[in-house]
Amino acid sequence: MNRNDWEAANGHKSGVFWFTGLSGAGKTTLSRMAEKELLNRGIRCIVIDGDQLRQGLNQDLGFSENDRKENLRRAAEVAMMFLNAGFVVLVSMISPSRTVRDKIRHRFQADEFAEVYVQCSLETCERRDPKGLYQKARTGEIQGFTGIDAIYEPPIRAELTINTEQESVENGMHALVEFIIKNYAGSAQKERIL
Ligand code: ADX
Repeated sequence: MNRNDWEAANGHKSGVFWFTGLSGAGKTTLSRMAEKELLNRGIRCIVIDGDQLRQGLNQDLGFSENDRKENLRRAAEVAMMFLNAGFVVLVSMISPSRTVRDKIRHRFQADEFAEVYVQCSLETCERRDPKGLYQKARTGEIQGFTGIDAIYEPPIRAELTINTEQESVENGMHALVEFIIKNYAGSAQKERIL
């Protein structure tokens, strides 16, 4: 079976949607909601989430520049495998470095990869602090925390930006799903329905 076989069997194209943004910006929430909506629409998808990968495949990695790079490299390789199996792949990782993100982008063809910037100010992420990690970073209990004492470089040319500060998560999720269907998973889906 190659990718074309899978795409034909699934009735839609595959693609990788790489979510980048600060911790607490809403990457996981958005990708999980989109996953459900895509499933409802008959689109085979998978979420690859940084926190989850770090519990298993990447449990040997920390948050140094090199470890983050390796964390993202492995995630991209896993994404590639699912891409080739016909999936819509939603990758949800902080991915703070522009250079590393560009390297990942070049691992894929232009028409099978999109960068999705989940935008939210540091102030709001810190106020949300869903895991209490910002507080720990402020008190020095955690070091090298993205946005506090480790850099986050926002994308310059993301294919899609979802601002979770100005938009509700539902609106953001719908914008995302429409984007995926219109630009990637849509045409073959239509052919199947016809
Ligand atoms: S990345 O920088 O390598 O892309 P990744 O998305 O896998 O990060 O993991 C980020 C998650 O790890 C955060 O949402 C948070 O729960 C946790 N975390 C623990 N320590 C740190 C840290 N120093 N910087 C950022 N996130 C951290």
